[in-house]
Amino acid sequence: MPQADDAAREALAHRPHLDPASMRAHYRAEGLRTEDLADDPYQQFLRWFEDAVTAGLHEPNAMVVSTADERGRPSSRTVLLKQFDERGFVFYTNYGSRKGREIEANPYVSLLFPWHAIARQVIVSGRAERTGRDETAAYFRTRPHGSQLGAWASEQSSKVASREELDRTYEALAARYPETEDVPVPPRWGGYRVVAETVEFWQGRENRLHDRLRYVRTDAGWTVERLCP
Ligand SMILES: Cc1cc2nc3c(=O)[nH]c(=O)nc-3n(C[C@H](O)[C@H](O)[C@H](O)COP(=O)(O)O)c2cc1C
Repeated sequence: MPQADDAAREALAHRPHLDPASMRAHYRAEGLRTEDLADDPYQQFLRWFEDAVTAGLHEPNAMVVSTADERGRPSSRTVLLKQFDERGFVFYTNYGSRKGREIEANPYVSLLFPWHAIARQVIVSGRAERTGRDETAAYFRTRPHGSQLGAWASEQSSKVASREELDRTYEALAARYPETEDVPVPPRWGGYRVVAETVEFWQGRENRLHDRLRYVRTDAGWTVERLCP
């Protein structure tokens, strides 16, 4: 669409502050040294997660999860990290969603924490496995009543005719399960735990000479390698 391209260029010419090519943030000077890293990536993640929380980042537990279908076509979306420890990183979703179907066909996923405000990102690659039903149920009970109903109301990733249809489904569920009633855990809803194989910690530095330190799981434990920025 050449006309549309021209229009977009014209619009940017009058608003240079919206031109992404001219946007350049200056990154912090403090570096990341191998000798300062924790012994395993989960402890290191805890340190950086604490920094992200302390810095007041909005939703520091938001992460982009990328999956690929059986033909290798990727897709990404944001989800919320709900738990992490040496067993892995946990998020909750609908198993019948696009991501759920892709994980069932190909369990290899990537997680990315985009902590731009503090010039950091963490990238995890590994295998996703379903959390146990007891663990899922324990987390489901902590969700607000409305979110519990929402998990039932939405066939995540499938087409819906209208907003009204979605609202009607929710209202019918709200009538069936008032605030005083326990909402059962939807059978198609639950957690995935991503068991890390590599975890990269990226720290922005001056002159684009960023630090990238990557933990790699081996039979003997975790090793760390430095990557060019
Ligand atoms: C900040 C944020 C947090 C989100 N958290 C979740 C989540 O924890 N679980 C989830 O299933 N979807 C979450 N979503 C919605 C997903 O990004 C996505 O729209 C949905 O999971 C359907 O993805 P899919 O069709 O690729 O499977 C979140 C979206 C945003 C913007």
